[in-house]
Amino acid sequence: MGSGILDRRNAGTRWMKMAYSVSEFTYQFDRLIYAHGDQLAELVKQGAPLIEHLLENRRSLSGILAHRREKEGYRARHLLHRHPAGAYTLWMMVFPAGRCTPVHDHGTWGLIGVWKGEEHEDKYERNGPPHIMSPLLTKTGETRNAPGAVTALLTPGRDIHSVRNPTDSPAYSIHIYGKASAPSHVFDLETGAQMTWHTHPAGIAKAWGYQPSLANLLGLRNVTSGELLNEIRRRLRDTADPNGQTYEAQ
Ligand SMILES: [Fe+2]
Repeated sequence: MGSGILDRRNAGTRWMKMAYSVSEFTYQFDRLIYAHGDQLAELVKQGAPLIEHLLENRRSLSGILAHRREKEGYRARHLLHRHPAGAYTLWMMVFPAGRCTPVHDHGTWGLIGVWKGEEHEDKYERNGPPHIMSPLLTKTGETRNAPGAVTALLTPGRDIHSVRNPTDSPAYSIHIYGKASAPSHVFDLETGAQMTWHTHPAGIAKAWGYQPSLANLLGLRNVTSGELLNEIRRRLRDTADPNGQTYEAQ
């Protein structure tokens, strides 16, 4: 039987877990970026417990979903935070039952923590140096990620994986990704062929099961509608005619 003091301490611990909000998480992660932004292995190592802590905060994460909508059967990505200098983005992903991703890389570091449901992950490594155009891949690991599990991606070389949800229920996970240092790819395991959003936007959209969108066809990922509009404006400015006429989006 616990003492009153311990009871109060436990109550305090529970309260602290409940109170760990997304903004507190990003405050702490910003400090990690400041301290270890150029030491990716250390950044990921120290960032993983922060993700674990955030995953314990069911009330805050449930509150986020209460104001978002998903299309049934489709993957959904809810942007929770973007670092002001672009060092990382934080997302809530919803992975429908029975769905799987293609084998892909991210071109950056990342941390993924399962909040609800279950995700199975296969990890791969390239055979040979990174500049090879058609790299054959070797499977290096397979994990079943239950709620609370956190996995890491590190570039170069340790950011290739595929994820599937073999259950009958959607899976919800928190993802944090660094600033991309290289384009992300989708790989064909048999031929080694690789596609990027820039070279094969329609093929990539199909591999991911997306309806090709304007953003996809422009080779953009993870952009808000405002960012998409700004990018279209920028490209239109770049195509201004020699007389100075520009074609601004309305
Ligand atoms: Fe991924």
